[in-house]
Amino acid sequence: MNTKITIAIDGFSSTGKSTLAKQLAQQLGYIYVDTGAMYRAVAYFAMQNNIISATIFDKVALIAALPSIQLSFQFNPTLGFAEMFLNHENVESQIRTIEVSNYVSKIAEVSEVRAKLVEQQQEMGKNKGIVMDGRDIGTVVFPEADLKIFMTASAATRAQRRFAELQQKGDNVSYEAVLKNVEERDYIDTHREDSPLVIAADAIEIDNSSLNKEEQFAIVFDLVSQVIIK
Ligand code: DC
Repeated sequence: MNTKITIAIDGFSSTGKSTLAKQLAQQLGYIYVDTGAMYRAVAYFAMQNNIISATIFDKVALIAALPSIQLSFQFNPTLGFAEMFLNHENVESQIRTIEVSNYVSKIAEVSEVRAKLVEQQQEMGKNKGIVMDGRDIGTVVFPEADLKIFMTASAATRAQRRFAELQQKGDNVSYEAVLKNVEERDYIDTHREDSPLVIAADAIEIDNSSLNKEEQFAIVFDLVSQVIIK
């Protein structure tokens, strides 16, 4: 029998981390956790409760509200992945809007938010057999992960992919707005004080600007196989 491993997938926004992580988890029969969804759900909560808007960001209120934010994932067999629930409400589609994307990096800068989510993520992965994607998985959440992947692609490539996705969902947003959001999030994610997005020393970097999903999966699955049979 194969021993179960921990796979950490980090990288810039819209590099296709979730797609890859989902495919890997499905193939291996592992749990998949999209940690970005957790930060997005907190951002959505903050928006709903007038904690964050275009003009305000009440950090004190956010920290005070943290105990009343309950996050969970529930597997949807039709979709084949776990959806994000905030206080028992399915918020999977609400957290994917451009508005949430615009606020989420600010929310993710708050150390108290990070501490709460990291603790929950470590609990989910304590028995291994997990593929987790985010920004700090290989550096902070699972520094001892068996395999660490760091995904990159040019900002224009990533914005184009995200733009196509949003258009498909009927979101009437311009390519320029998506590119601006991608660049702003890159900046905030790499410059924040607590757990900035950095490549772990032992991570394998994959630039997928010119790789399709199948090519990328084949490369990473080969890496996984090497670790599992070691
Ligand atoms: O992966 P994503 O684009 O859905 O993530 C949304 C935001 O959440 C991203 O801009 C930064 C933040 N994030 C984080 O700080 N740490 C993580 N582990 C995952 C996401």
